[in-house]
Amino acid sequence: MRTPARDGTAYEVVVGVGVLRDAGMLVRDALGPGGERAARALLVHDDALPRGQVDATAEALGAARLDAVACPVRASEEGKSFATVERIVQAAAAGRLERAEPVVALGGGVVGDAAGFAAACYRRGVPVVQCPTTLLSMVDASVGGKTGVNVLVGDSLKKNMAGAFHQPVLVLCDVAALGSLPAREVRSGLAECVKHAMIGADFGDAGLWGFTRSAIDGVLGLDAATLVELVSRNVAVKAACVAGDERETLATGAPHGGRMALNAGHTVGHAVETLPGLSHGEPPVRGLSHGEAVGLGLLAEARLAVTLGLLDAQAADDLRDLLRCAGLPVAVRGLPESSRVVALMGDDKKVAGGRLRLSLPARGNRCVLVEDPPRDALAAAIDSLRER
Ligand SMILES: NC(=O)c1ccc[n+]([C@@H]2O[C@H](COP(=O)([O-])OP(=O)(O)OC[C@H]3O[C@@H](n4cnc5c(N)ncnc54)[C@H](O)[C@@H]3O)[C@@H](O)[C@H]2O)c1
Repeated sequence: MRTPARDGTAYEVVVGVGVLRDAGMLVRDALGPGGERAARALLVHDDALPRGQVDATAEALGAARLDAVACPVRASEEGKSFATVERIVQAAAAGRLERAEPVVALGGGVVGDAAGFAAACYRRGVPVVQCPTTLLSMVDASVGGKTGVNVLVGDSLKKNMAGAFHQPVLVLCDVAALGSLPAREVRSGLAECVKHAMIGADFGDAGLWGFTRSAIDGVLGLDAATLVELVSRNVAVKAACVAGDERETLATGAPHGGRMALNAGHTVGHAVETLPGLSHGEPPVRGLSHGEAVGLGLLAEARLAVTLGLLDAQAADDLRDLLRCAGLPVAVRGLPESSRVVALMGDDKKVAGGRLRLSLPARGNRCVLVEDPPRDALAAAIDSLRER
């Protein structure tokens, strides 16, 4: 499928089984006539990937006369930093990468965001190819051109505080890569799919909610056909949202808030993700992954939407059931006072003029931008996440 970008260019998102085997040919095509003389590619890869997968991708690039210079990266939020971007830029310079030669990011959202940012900076911008290897990065992070790093301010890690918009020239979603992904990470990716399903009607796929509900078992069992359809439909929703608002400037111009719509679940989600001392499940799992936090954020924000009359109570219950079905937490232990969570939400990048802005799920699988919701309703929605 082709995804339009602001500068009039478009890039291909290829979804399938084994598509990384054709990476060389596909990258060559994506580089176009300007890339004919490209002889190298910087392969920035997650160091937790099976060795065979990294080697196979390097070989596929080599088969198209693109010598792969490997740059392994440890995927962690602490490591998604300027230091890692500098290391990637140094590897590109040491490998004498020229301006037409691509950075190929093979990994989850951490690797994709850091490698994409390095590609935006190196020689003031070289092409980047995103090859996501987690469900989350396939359905979300690899598409849309947001790249960046976290920044430590005092003792607090500010997520995605620095970055650049740098659209990929190509995205390769090989669902076979998910074979080695830990089950918890597959479930995390499903949370972003649930988010897209909740807002799908605004972006061309009103049936995504029903499909997602029916696809859970197939996804958790890594059924290839189910994964290909899930990833393709989610990429289409994300691409439609981004195409109308590539730089997230529409916030007040569209009822659903343009690209801000993708923030559904994330305002509460980002706040709870950073809290220490949370646990969930039996036996207890300590801390929350990004997707787990987004699932909880969606649930709290859906309940807030019910209180504000934007959503029916049954829809919030359906969401809770779907999250449970996907093996995602619907309540946590150790949640502090809701006022502390609200204070953390004030750190959100989407805060404007001190006003909190939330993209809330609404009736008909749509979403609505709400500014400064009543604090007691917000507090009650956050409190509803407390395990009883
Ligand atoms: N740019 C965007 O638009 C955008 C959108 C959503 C999220 N993000 C960012 O994406 C990041 C989260 O991405 P993520 O969930 O992919 O996390 P991640 O990159 O940290 O990967 C999760 C874990 O899975 C491992 N892993 C990755 N692929 C694997 C594979 N195939 N087999 C085995 N292990 C594998 C990693 O080593 C890591 O331990 C966050 O930093 C978030 O801010 C960016």
